Amino acid sequence: MADIRNNFVGIKSPNPFWLASAPPTDKAYNVERAFKAGWGGVVWKTLGEAGPPVVNVNGPRYGAIWGADRRLLGLNNIELITDRDLQTNLREIKQVKKNWPDRAMIVSIMVPCEEASWKAILPLVEETGADGIELNFGCPHGMSERGMGAAVGQVPEYIEMVSRWCKATTRMPVIVKLTPNITDIRYPARAAKTGGADAVSLINTISSIISVDLDNFSPEPSIDGKGSHGGYCGPAVKPIALNMVAEIARDAETRGMPISGIGGITTWRDAAEFLALGAGNVQVCTAAMTYGFKIVEEMAAGLSNWMDEKGHKTLDDVISRAVPNVTDWQYLNLNYIAKAKINQDSCIQCGRCHIACEDTSHQAITNMLDDKRHFEVIEEECVGCNLCVNVCPVQDCITMEPLSAGVLDKRTGKKVLKKYSNWTEHPNNPSKVAAE
Ligand SMILES: Cc1cc2nc3c(=O)[nH]c(=O)nc-3n(C[C@H](O)[C@H](O)[C@H](O)COP(=O)(O)O)c2cc1C
Ligand code: SF4
Ligand code: SF4
Repeated sequence: MADIRNNFVGIKSPNPFWLASAPPTDKAYNVERAFKAGWGGVVWKTLGEAGPPVVNVNGPRYGAIWGADRRLLGLNNIELITDRDLQTNLREIKQVKKNWPDRAMIVSIMVPCEEASWKAILPLVEETGADGIELNFGCPHGMSERGMGAAVGQVPEYIEMVSRWCKATTRMPVIVKLTPNITDIRYPARAAKTGGADAVSLINTISSIISVDLDNFSPEPSIDGKGSHGGYCGPAVKPIALNMVAEIARDAETRGMPISGIGGITTWRDAAEFLALGAGNVQVCTAAMTYGFKIVEEMAAGLSNWMDEKGHKTLDDVISRAVPNVTDWQYLNLNYIAKAKINQDSCIQCGRCHIACEDTSHQAITNMLDDKRHFEVIEEECVGCNLCVNVCPVQDCITMEPLSAGVLDKRTGKKVLKKYSNWTEHPNNPSKVAAE
């Protein structure tokens, strides 16, 4: 059976599934039950500095986007960091870590961007016996307006500076949690590395307005008729997170730096994709908030079964395996040619592929044959774009079939070449033309 034990910057956990810093990790009651359900670790809900606790709104703090089956696809929130007092949190963290020594206990922290504030809180956290800290430079609402969270995460120099302070003050591994609300994720990741951080985690939530109530014209969630931008997460953000993780994993300056992958992870498959793109482990929030702590059972079993099936013995056999296959567009093989093919036995003749291709692609799917509904790909027109596959409601009814070398591409009238050839050497490339 596959070994899914995880070692992330020296922090060991029985599996790579940690709960991200958020309501599921807000208190001992939750975390104890999460550990009982099988979570490998938690990042405790972000602590602020000592003093009067943070105040949350007293009305709705969530909004959502659903699929047609009412499955939650995206979640938006305007919650702040923990609104429980620091001493209560520290006491509970210490007790839970004592009760569960084999699980990872990471403490998320957000205090003002001043050295004294970080120096004051770090020994208190260290005293709990926690395994590591995560610096919350990601929260895009409420705290960022107070100069914390994403306000720090958007300035690489601040990230570097605070990472340095923390590394100089604590023995605990330092994980820097990055905000996706930035143009190029490589810069904050590089700054974390330069500042001496042990790892980065990403993504925190994406700045967003989820919807508008068209009766009173208030953004939602609506607090007495007004709304504020919030943080977006859940399955909808996974592609954004995957790309950012991959960008850091393949950047020459940060390659090899441990990454904790976060964003929309709901199934073992999502987790495996993050691992393949360079994450050393994963964190989950929305899926646990939607389906409860027990989803970790399916995640761990699913990952382990898949690894067994594929002959992957440990997580190291999976981690970063897809990174060398992430490339820039200009290096994609332009001699790779595929055509759509419709399986007439499984086609329910709904016509969606025809409409999509007819109206927005290449007019390459018929809709009638001998006065009867009939959907078939016209190879002479098909550019292999894959749109029809994505709109077809029947899984695997349309497949993309690559043409072998030597076969005639009926669209261009040319034989498919075996040789790999990309845009950098294409005759239409202006820079190539200029160089000649
Ligand atoms: C209600 C809520 C509160 C959150 N609070 C925090 C927080 O205090 N600190 C933090 O670093 N991230 C916080 N997050 C962000 C999550 O830890 C996570 O980065 C984000 O939700 C993306 O993961 P997901 O798609 O699995 O939810 C919060 C998310 C939600 C939904
Ligand atoms: S792959 Fe694209 S061009 Fe070809 S049939 Fe499908 S939608 Fe049309
Ligand atoms: S979308 Fe799929 S099921 Fe519908 S007509 Fe096209 S191939 Fe058939």
